[in-house]
Amino acid sequence: MAKARKRKLPLVTVESSSSNSSTPLSGRTTIRQFHVLSKRRAQLKAGTTNEESVEALAAVEDEITQLGGLETYQRMSAIGQGTDRGGGSEKILIKWLKDFGLHKNRACKLCLLEVGALKPDNYSTCATWIDPTPLDLRSRHPSIIEQDFLQLDVTAHRNKWDILSLSLVLNFVPEPKDRGMFYITTYLLELRLNESRTNAVNCA
Ligand SMILES: C[S@@+](CC[C@H](N)C(=O)[O-])C[C@H]1O[C@@H](n2cnc3c(N)ncnc32)[C@H](O)[C@@H]1O
Repeated sequence: MAKARKRKLPLVTVESSSSNSSTPLSGRTTIRQFHVLSKRRAQLKAGTTNEESVEALAAVEDEITQLGGLETYQRMSAIGQGTDRGGGSEKILIKWLKDFGLHKNRACKLCLLEVGALKPDNYSTCATWIDPTPLDLRSRHPSIIEQDFLQLDVTAHRNKWDILSLSLVLNFVPEPKDRGMFYITTYLLELRLNESRTNAVNCA
């Protein structure tokens, strides 16, 4: 007699995917659930393919859909970036750059590649000294380039940016191998901050 297959329990408990409201706790829960499911999906895709793994992958994909997918994840993350919740992490990068005096006496603006940009105007307060290029896997605004950073043509973009922001992006990436690829891609892009710092000093 064929063995009855045990029905697998969902990995996470999805409460509501379509809600626009978010408390800090529900937002964090959705973000955490999305990370758990993405990690499981990546493991299943990387593992051996058999009837059970195909079924498990379909179940995980289904849970991700119920959660609202990347769209909901991004919405919750953007809400978490709101000024009422302490603001986005760009605040920290701006402070670091100012601490280095990079905002002063610039001959030209600092070109910044912002990977994982949820909003198009995170650097609008620094428009006189930062020229940002916002980019994301899924664009939420026409000014945000929809592009997988790991698929960027590094030859075409070499020496184009001074600064690269990967803020809260690496923790999104489930596979260690892909996290490593972020560093390799960054290296291959050959950022030119040293040159810009020299410019900044020369103009002081
Ligand atoms: C937590 S959000 C980023 C939040 C924002 N950068 C901040 O500091 O608050 C992570 C974002 O990274 C994006 N992302 C993940 N992997 C990516 C990749 N390979 N290329 C481009 N964007 C990516 C996701 O689509 C998501 O919008």
